[in-house]
Amino acid sequence: MHGFMAGQHAFGRLILAAVLASGIAACKKVENSASSVTAESLANADTASGEWLTHGGTYDEQRFAKLEQITAENVGDLGLAWSAEFDTNRGQEATPIVADGVLYTTTAWSKVFAFDAKTGEQLWSYDPEVPGETAFKGCCDIVNRGVAVYDGKVFFGAFDGRLIALDAGSGEEVWSTVTVDQSKPYTITGAPRVVKGKVLIGNGGAEYGVRGYVSAYDADSGDLAWRFYTVPPGPGAKADGAASDDVIEKMRATWAGDWSEFGGGGTVWDAIVYDQEYDQVLIGVGNGSPWNHKIRSQGKGDNLFVSSVVALDAETGKYKWHYQGTPGETWDFTQTQPIILADLEIEGAQRKVMMQAPKNGFFYVIDRKDGKLISARNFVPTTWATSVDLATGRPVEAPNARFENGPFLALPSALGAHNWHPMAYSPKTNLVYLPAQEVPFAYTDDKAFKPREGGWNIGMDYLANGVPEDPAQFRALRAMLKGQLIAWDPVAQKEIWRVQYDGPWNGGVLATAGNLVFQGNAKGEFAAFSADKGEKLWSFDAGTGIIAAPISYTIDGEQYVAVMAGYGGAYPLSSAFVDNPRPMPNGRLLVFKLGGKAPYKIEPIENAPFNIVEQEFAPATVQAGMALYETNCGVCHSGGAIGSGVLPDLRRSGYLSDAEAWKAVVIDGSLKDNGMVGFAKFLSAQDAEAIRAFVASKAKLGAEQEKADGN
Ligand code: HEC
Repeated sequence: MHGFMAGQHAFGRLILAAVLASGIAACKKVENSASSVTAESLANADTASGEWLTHGGTYDEQRFAKLEQITAENVGDLGLAWSAEFDTNRGQEATPIVADGVLYTTTAWSKVFAFDAKTGEQLWSYDPEVPGETAFKGCCDIVNRGVAVYDGKVFFGAFDGRLIALDAGSGEEVWSTVTVDQSKPYTITGAPRVVKGKVLIGNGGAEYGVRGYVSAYDADSGDLAWRFYTVPPGPGAKADGAASDDVIEKMRATWAGDWSEFGGGGTVWDAIVYDQEYDQVLIGVGNGSPWNHKIRSQGKGDNLFVSSVVALDAETGKYKWHYQGTPGETWDFTQTQPIILADLEIEGAQRKVMMQAPKNGFFYVIDRKDGKLISARNFVPTTWATSVDLATGRPVEAPNARFENGPFLALPSALGAHNWHPMAYSPKTNLVYLPAQEVPFAYTDDKAFKPREGGWNIGMDYLANGVPEDPAQFRALRAMLKGQLIAWDPVAQKEIWRVQYDGPWNGGVLATAGNLVFQGNAKGEFAAFSADKGEKLWSFDAGTGIIAAPISYTIDGEQYVAVMAGYGGAYPLSSAFVDNPRPMPNGRLLVFKLGGKAPYKIEPIENAPFNIVEQEFAPATVQAGMALYETNCGVCHSGGAIGSGVLPDLRRSGYLSDAEAWKAVVIDGSLKDNGMVGFAKFLSAQDAEAIRAFVASKAKLGAEQEKADGN
């Protein structure tokens, strides 16, 4: 007995088989691709060359293409040059790399693809065969943000914690190293960076209970060169024999109790940036584990290096300096968001700075020499803190921000005022283009908190964020969620222009020398704006939401703009507020050029009807089911069981009316290979039945509301 989405996925697998077969036939053709990428070419990478050699374009990660063929004047002629369809409808977050005429990208489930960047012919693909059940270890979808290329190899992190090197010409595996303890809930979603012959990679997992670190591996052999732990070993535990050993006591002095029970968090899941001028690596460090500081560290101490930027010596991985934006983090305020390096003129002096707009809502400009804060200003409303004290570098927190006297409605919140979606900086306009958002969350202590091995351990009461059934209340809450593309002057610390969206989780950004800014959005529109004024000049209907950042490159004198399309990630998986949710189509790679005329059409997939279950359930069972649903299922199937389209809407699932089939999925894990793990470890058959009762009540409600709305 298969649900609607299950049928969809089977179809996807058939397409995949066909794609793979054609990929194998073609893989012999390009032999020396990416072999020309050396340490020198990475060090001197210049987007003016027409290549896009590193994650952020060049080591400074400005995501600025110095290409001027496509301009604000002619962008109206931009059209599709070619596109490729992938085999999954899960989130697409990768930034492609272009080297030697080949475009390398990754998709959800950490699959790697190489295309002829001009024609779109697929050269090869590689599937690391990440076990489906590892999907349960990830808070935020089974996404991947891209590869690194160097010395004839393509490097990427697989979701299950492997770092893999492929031959750039053939896509064959060269080496594979397990970078995490795979018995723990670690995942990799971030893109590796290659620095001086080493491949740098971090990991995620701080919602579940892990200890964060970043590692450097030899690019030739895959051997570990150094590792830096971002939180100290537990009290009394011996040193790690790692690059971070020198600062263990510095870190420990900022923690209380036994933080090691939940690992402490501090995962380095996104920004890892090489600062050539000071020969240092800047890492962005994530949230505490659990989120709740009272549980993690008895409510005491700053908890270094959670929610900080840390500068490490590029050769040895040893500590140089840090800046902590959110001391004693308790809101899931990661500071691992993208970092941009630039030279800015500030009060008449040239300063070598890093810029970052982490989840907590403040835009930071920091001196890279010593980590000293130059300036900080909030770029969206921040209810948790009013400002940053420049003398101490610390936020000025609002009363009850730590919910010590009951629930606190925070803005921004766990989804961040800015998340991983890359921002861009144009040295021509001196502006940063920032995909920002406003998503509130009510924080309350979980008074009954009990550790759940392998499951979410955040120490917050989820029910404080219950999704209202009353349509008016629902709409009022929905109206609080916003998104915007902000052009930010980092010197004056002020907004210059904005594009306002009526929802969060829009795409990453590219700026170009043609006075353009490109961004896709949640509704599937890929658009170009003038970089100086923010006027919308061109757009394309991608037919599926865009969250990834575009790139630009040139081949044979023609400039291209490429972007991964495909909605997913933390917000659509967990939120009840995605507009007009419908089953998402498979992800696509879209590549544009002036005069491009490639055909393109995505047929919208209609929702299955609500599955109305005849059986009556006791109200107490429905109530119990709600709590179980929100703690166990809501992070993937959306709060309030209102599906978001990425994963099956359980109210419409065929399984809902069949208790046996439901239990086989939910408890026994019959769909585990597709990412739906069995919950036998956490739930009883009775619990599963209560959740079914809750979802069935939501299906009825959905059908009633649909009728009342007259459609
Ligand atoms: C880590 C993310 C995740 C969590 C948490 C999760 N699911 Fe799923 N679930 C999935 C995925 C992915 C699928 C789609 C599997 C497929 O394509 O076959 C799915 C599918 C299902 C289906 C089949 C729907 C259909 O019609 O095909 C049911 C039923 C289901 N989940 C119930 C639950 C329940 C109940 C919970 C909480 C106890 C839960 N899930 C928690 C990821 C998750």
